[in-house]
Amino acid sequence: MKEEQLRSSNWFGRTGKDGFIYRAWMKNNGIPHHEFKKPVIGICNTWSELTPCNAHFRDLAAAVKRGILEAGGFPVEFPVMSLGETLMKPTTMLFRNLASMDVEESIRANPLDGVVLLCGCDKTTPSLLMGACSVNLPTIIVSGGPMLTGRYKGKSIGTSDVWRLAAELETGGVNETELNSMEDALCRSQGHCAVMGTASTMACMVEALGLSLPGNAAIPAVDARRKVLAQYSGSRIVEMVREQLRLSDILTRPAFENAIIANAAIGGSTNFVIHLLAIAGRMGTPLSLQDFDTLSNNIPLLVNLQPSGAFFMEDLYDAGGLPAVLKELDGLLHGDALTVNGKTLRENYTTAECYNREVIAATADPVSAATGLAVLTGNICPDGAVIKPSAASPHLMRHTGPALVFESIEDYKNRINNEDLDVDENTILVLKNVGPKGYPGMPEVGNMTLPKKLLQRGITDMIRISDGRMSGTGFGTVVLHVSPEAALGGNFSVLQTGDLITLDVENRTLEVQLTEAVLEQRRNAWKPLPPHVSRGYVHLYTQRVQQAHLGADLDFLTGCSGADVTKDSH
Ligand code: FES
Ligand code: MG
Repeated sequence: MKEEQLRSSNWFGRTGKDGFIYRAWMKNNGIPHHEFKKPVIGICNTWSELTPCNAHFRDLAAAVKRGILEAGGFPVEFPVMSLGETLMKPTTMLFRNLASMDVEESIRANPLDGVVLLCGCDKTTPSLLMGACSVNLPTIIVSGGPMLTGRYKGKSIGTSDVWRLAAELETGGVNETELNSMEDALCRSQGHCAVMGTASTMACMVEALGLSLPGNAAIPAVDARRKVLAQYSGSRIVEMVREQLRLSDILTRPAFENAIIANAAIGGSTNFVIHLLAIAGRMGTPLSLQDFDTLSNNIPLLVNLQPSGAFFMEDLYDAGGLPAVLKELDGLLHGDALTVNGKTLRENYTTAECYNREVIAATADPVSAATGLAVLTGNICPDGAVIKPSAASPHLMRHTGPALVFESIEDYKNRINNEDLDVDENTILVLKNVGPKGYPGMPEVGNMTLPKKLLQRGITDMIRISDGRMSGTGFGTVVLHVSPEAALGGNFSVLQTGDLITLDVENRTLEVQLTEAVLEQRRNAWKPLPPHVSRGYVHLYTQRVQQAHLGADLDFLTGCSGADVTKDSH
């Protein structure tokens, strides 16, 4: 590729006043004139000490830079909004779309020929990828990698134990002193959550989509091989610019199908559904909620990782990583899908080997036959809802019970532990107004802790239904992402305590036993809650956010505007 064909030559290849301005200020970092003729590679960095899962990213960026320099590129690292899952209130999901706007505009407005996205903690992967898709430059992803497995009193612990601890705290099974010791032990090294939560799911998703070098998903953050992969990725993006290999060449419908199939086999997070729908929306690739059920139906669970199983990401890496899982799925996947290294997905996994069948099962002898994700419909959720069967209780998969309805998260917190609450293990807990508009931002509260009096009786699971999400590290018979959400005034909005609800996962239905006439009467009497805010981003978000079954992107952000900018700044 000739230097004048580089996108960056529209800045740095210019003569006269404009070229002078574009180059002169960059030279204050000591960059010699000849550097400006090289492919300019942006390293999109979500480093932040407020995002502890991504706090090692300056080191990772340094490794990427070495690769870019080695291949004859000009690396430029730039920061974007960083979404720290554990600290941000009311939920990072409220800001995923905002961060994606930052990424999109930062890439397009700057003299970049290609981009390396440094992804890690849950929302950093979809937000960066959504933004990059709307520009469509050559792009490669380097994930930050999972933490080492937490070790406590001779046992392995990880993020999913937080939900078990929450239940034990209610029943006095663990005290504050012990809790503090576990807190010291849980996050043992740099990196993101070490279970198959949303961050690991997203890392597997990008590898299955073909957007990272093979093996990227599972290498622990602090393993030296993570930096080697980062350096190789830096070299490869320079070649991708020369080949003009863009996101749209890789993110085809077969690639999305591969991601869905892989997600079923790894027991990935329910959040995968919302993020992949949003990414497909940016690329303009047709993808529906129903596709997740159809494509993951009959895909066995192969990966035995928490929260669906027993092990951790470190174990997955030692057992052969995602390539060994993909190899098991040969024949089910579109093996000829192109990936960022210029090879097909099949070429990348064909040499993989499984070193531990307890962690990665063979297709002939899976961890479980349960499908990764089931999409439910019915009068409660005409536009759909999801449940993760591998994380649910078999005895509740077909169940009818009376609803106990909480109108908001505050209502739930105020009443859930009341001694006189009319609830038993057959009750179905319903939580409203935790959807995209209603909360706003669709937080991970769907796996509500059970009433204390039932926990004390040894009950560990109940059916829970909400228009919210669940942490990818969570588990239970939890129906999520009810669409339309309660804030829109549909049937879910008008459920009342005592209504009989039937969940039937095998037949993919979720119904309330009320006639349409009764439901219509209730809908007509329904009144919306007053708006949360009247200014700022949150106002924009609540006005324009789409429902969960469409990916919860802002409606005006779907699609791609390309990389062209025709006007100059001076
Ligand atoms: Fe960052 Fe779990 S909190 S990945
Ligand atoms: Mg989360």
